[in-house]
Order: sequence, then C-alpha cells, then structure tokens
Amino acid sequence: MMEFALAGDFMARKRDTVIATAGRHPEDHHGTVNPPVHHASTIVFPTLAAYEDAQNNLFESVNYGRIGTPTSHAFEEAVTALHGGLKTVSLPSGLSACVTALMAFLETGDHLLMCDSVYGPTRLRVCEHLLARSGVETTYYDPLIGAGIAELIRPETKVIYMESPGSLTFEVQDVPAIAGAARDRGVVTMIDNTWASPFLCRPLELGVDVVIEAATKYISGHSDVMLGSVTVATDEHFRKLKWTAISFGAAAGPDDLYLGLRGLRTLSVRLERHQRNALRVAAWLDGRAEVERVLYPALTGDPGHGLWQRDFDGASGLFGVLLGEGVGKPAFAAMIDGLELFGLGNSWGGYESLVLPTRPGRMRTATEWTHEGPSFRLHVGLEDPDDLIADLEKGLERLRAL
Ligand SMILES: Cc1ncc(COP(=O)(O)O)c(C=O)c1O
Repeated sequence: MMEFALAGDFMARKRDTVIATAGRHPEDHHGTVNPPVHHASTIVFPTLAAYEDAQNNLFESVNYGRIGTPTSHAFEEAVTALHGGLKTVSLPSGLSACVTALMAFLETGDHLLMCDSVYGPTRLRVCEHLLARSGVETTYYDPLIGAGIAELIRPETKVIYMESPGSLTFEVQDVPAIAGAARDRGVVTMIDNTWASPFLCRPLELGVDVVIEAATKYISGHSDVMLGSVTVATDEHFRKLKWTAISFGAAAGPDDLYLGLRGLRTLSVRLERHQRNALRVAAWLDGRAEVERVLYPALTGDPGHGLWQRDFDGASGLFGVLLGEGVGKPAFAAMIDGLELFGLGNSWGGYESLVLPTRPGRMRTATEWTHEGPSFRLHVGLEDPDDLIADLEKGLERLRAL
C-alpha cells in the first residue's frame, strides 16, 4: 500500500524547499527525479488478501484509476504540503474543484452564503443552476462585509464561500474575520485561492476549512493544462470531499497531473517575476489619464492594500483596469485589437500576457458595480515589462485617436 508522506513532514521546511521536494519519492521510481505518469484504469492484485486490503483502504491504496494513482497522490501530496493541510483531492479542472467542494458540504434545504465577487461560472452554473435545482438556497453577500457576515448566518446556513481577491473586481476579503464568525456558529468556510496560489496565501492558516485552487492557472503555469484541487485540514472533511469527487466520477487525467506537479516546481520563481512585472505595468497604467482606476491590491492606493499586506506574501500578475466613461466601443476595440504582446483570451496564470474585456456589473446582486466605462483584465506574464508597457502605450494612443 502506498504511504502518504504527511504534510507535517514539511512543516519545518521553508516554502521554496517544500516546492522543490514535496510529492517526490525517487526511491519508489528507480531514482527518477519526477514521479512518472501512471496511465491506469485497472490495477491488478496478486492475491485476494491484497485486493481486500486495497478495498479496505480505498483512498490510501492504489486500486482503480479513477480513485487515485501514484501520479495523483504525488500532486496531491505536494499541494497539501504547500498549504499545510492534511489531504488534497485533485480534480479535472478548477470549476470541478469549486462544484465538488460545494456539493460535498451542502444538501437540500441548506443555505449558502456566497461572495458577490465570485468567479462567474461558480455563480451561474453552480449556485444558480446545480445548487438551486438541488434545493440549496444561495444568498450573495458584499465581499467587504468582514465580521458583519454573522448577521447573515441562519440556522440552515452550512457554507460560507469566499474568493479573495474577487474575480474581475479584485476586492480583498477579511478572511480571518469571516472564518471566525463562521467557526463560532459551526459553518464550514471555503475559499477560491487561485489568484494567490498556495505560494502567496495559505487560507488554512487564516482559519478557513476548505481551500480551492484552479491549478489550471499558476500551479500549472503554462496554459496547457486543466486541473483543480481542494485541500482540507481534517480527515472528516477529506472523506466528504473524496466521496463526492468519486460520486461525480471526477478524476484528473494523468498527464495533466504530471504537468501540474512539474509546473508547481517553479511556482515561486514565476510568481516573483509575475509580481515584479505586474507592479511596473499596473503603476504605469495608474498614472495614465485614460485610466480611471487600476484594481490591484498590491498598489498602495488600493482599498484592499492593508488586508492584502496582512494576509498575503505577495501579488500575482492579474489585475483589472477601468477606463473613463467617455471611451466608446470603437476606441476600446482599436486599443485591444492592435495589442501585440497581450493575447485576447480566457484564463490566466500561464507565462504569457493576456487581456480580457470585462463587465463586472452584469453579475452583481448584493452590491452595485457603478462603473460605466469599458473595463478589462490584464494578466501580466514573464515578458520584459518595458515591452509590455510600450505595447499598452501604443494601445492607449489608438484609443485616444478615435
Ligand atoms: C478564480 C477562478 N476560479 C476557478 C476557475 C476555474 O478554473 P478552470 O478553468 O480550471 O475550470 C477560474 C478560471 O478562470 C478562475 O478564474
């Protein structure tokens, strides 16, 4: 039977060391540095006793490809160690991680408190479709509510879900205050931690119960993988999650798990550079007349800067930009269409820069998003920031010309 290396083994080590060591077991793989990819559905057993032993230790053994393989165990062990958790469940995408976490802890008649700034598909597909159909009621709350969340908790509230900074609008939540209020009332807390990744924020340390990562983004880091993870601190939570994942038939593919783990090895160096480049680009944009506001907690003027400094070890490369209300669609299109270094596309967290037009107001119900002008999201990649700024400068010239 495979032994999980406990996260506790890594507690004494610094994060960079954990990134380079967790989930590696060369002694099990002929000395290879990286755990190999196990393509497996069937696992065969030499004896009835061995088969029964594996069935009796379903989650720790290797007994069927969908339940877990040495490749998924290695990825999960590394993410667990980085978060300082007990166990992680890997899933085939970030959204799969969001829905699995929510479905694991909610049932008919339950109430969910969901931040108004949550990732769109979690709101539209999961809360308003799947959960509503299952008889779970969702109330959206102001992401800046802090300890005031206590007033929204009802007897049937089972989960409070956070995402910090929020998708598209980048509000930083007071995670310890919300987690504290929830814990006092026996409510499970979860957070989508994708913006920071476990390298920049470890929400279990802030009192959160369940931590979701779209490993598709920074953990994988190369825009070629779909992968998710959910990390917890107790065996009870792990079993709920794992049973739900199995019931969905959700299993991450072995090549994606391998690439996710390989990407994770360079997470710290990539994120340091993303932050350095993004800070340069964001500060430059912040000084431009065409720009009304840059939404990036790492900037000193950002309303979330204080909480970000308190709870995060740095910033990633993703932020929002609001343009002035007078900017029309043709001018906005001229700016975006001519960009040479920012690809226009969904997702982020890869090594390359991206731009995406946004309309945050469309998805608000608990709070109002009043900005009327065009807005966009930038992912600042690992290119030279001077070239990125020059590309954006030309874009703003095109915008002004129309
Ligand atoms: C904050 C956040 N969470 C979750 C997801 C979903 O991840 P995936 O695309 O891997 O399903 C995304 C994707 O953009 C995201 O931005």
